[in-house]
Amino acid sequence: EWTTASIVDEQITKIREQIGDGRAICGLSGGVDSAVAAALVQRAIGDRLTCVFVDHGLLRAGERAQVERDFVAATGVNLVTVDARERFLDALAGVTDPEQKRKIIGREFIRVFEQAERDLKAEGDYRFLVQGTLYPDVVESGGGAGASNIKSHHNVGGLPEDLQFELVEPLRLLFKDEVRRVGLELGLPETIVHRQPFPGPGLGIRIIGEVTADRLATLRAADAIAREELTAAGLDRDIWQCPVVLLADVRSVGVQGDGRTYGHPVVLRPVSSEDAMTADWTRLPYDVLERISTRITNEVAEVNRVVLDVTSKPPGTIEWE
Ligand code: XMP
Repeated sequence: EWTTASIVDEQITKIREQIGDGRAICGLSGGVDSAVAAALVQRAIGDRLTCVFVDHGLLRAGERAQVERDFVAATGVNLVTVDARERFLDALAGVTDPEQKRKIIGREFIRVFEQAERDLKAEGDYRFLVQGTLYPDVVESGGGAGASNIKSHHNVGGLPEDLQFELVEPLRLLFKDEVRRVGLELGLPETIVHRQPFPGPGLGIRIIGEVTADRLATLRAADAIAREELTAAGLDRDIWQCPVVLLADVRSVGVQGDGRTYGHPVVLRPVSSEDAMTADWTRLPYDVLERISTRITNEVAEVNRVVLDVTSKPPGTIEWE
């Protein structure tokens, strides 16, 4: 019988067979797949698993705490957080081109993660690397590992010989909905199991213009308000995701209190979708839009205008960059 509990038991047995009394490393992204893969391996081999979480400074409010506090509380996993915020800001200084940003963020991410791997290898005999590869990833890439961040990086070759790992991929027969059920079965928090998609380059591709610490703080605050109000309105399951985008090089005139303001707009980009290949803009209730707009313009000093993106995909992409 193919129940979630039996999937968990079967995978734990397989993981134990594969890893034996060895040690494993798992990179956490904050997303569902890596979290569930790590939780399964933790169940199987306990503290012989070490998770690595890279804080690139492009995360949303509360995301680091969600990994460091909530994920650790739910699993008891060993976690190493690498604070690489300054490094990413330095690397992104002066860069405005979207693809350039992606390349830089991807490159720095691999460097930081590999350094963390080297540090761990120096401490113990880590021979296994856990990845949250799902069945659709396996199929799409013709049998190899799939598309998302840490995974692909370890399959592009070019790793030093002494960094070779054997892959552990406990989700490779599962679809996303099964992965979520396994996550719940393992006691992971809803906030992790039902997290909406969030791009690897994070807020870095939601600031239109150069990425700076101040702009990140502004966008993070606006984004947190939008997410809070959408959650409070019970809309999380109705929308695929809702990027909040800071038009950092645009200013418009406003009036607030007794003064004229000259601030930045943020764009709300709520979309409905099945697979992100196509998307429709979500008809959010006006009262929810109003609450988000009022709160952002009251609470985020640099933002004096909130606008709504009513473009489908195609012709628009979901993200603005
Ligand atoms: P677009 O903007 O292409 O986005 O319509 C489709 C989906 O992919 C996410 N996305 C990314 N995810 N790295 C990622 O890991 C990226 O560079 C990236 N760009 C877009 C986006 O959030 C949406 O879910």
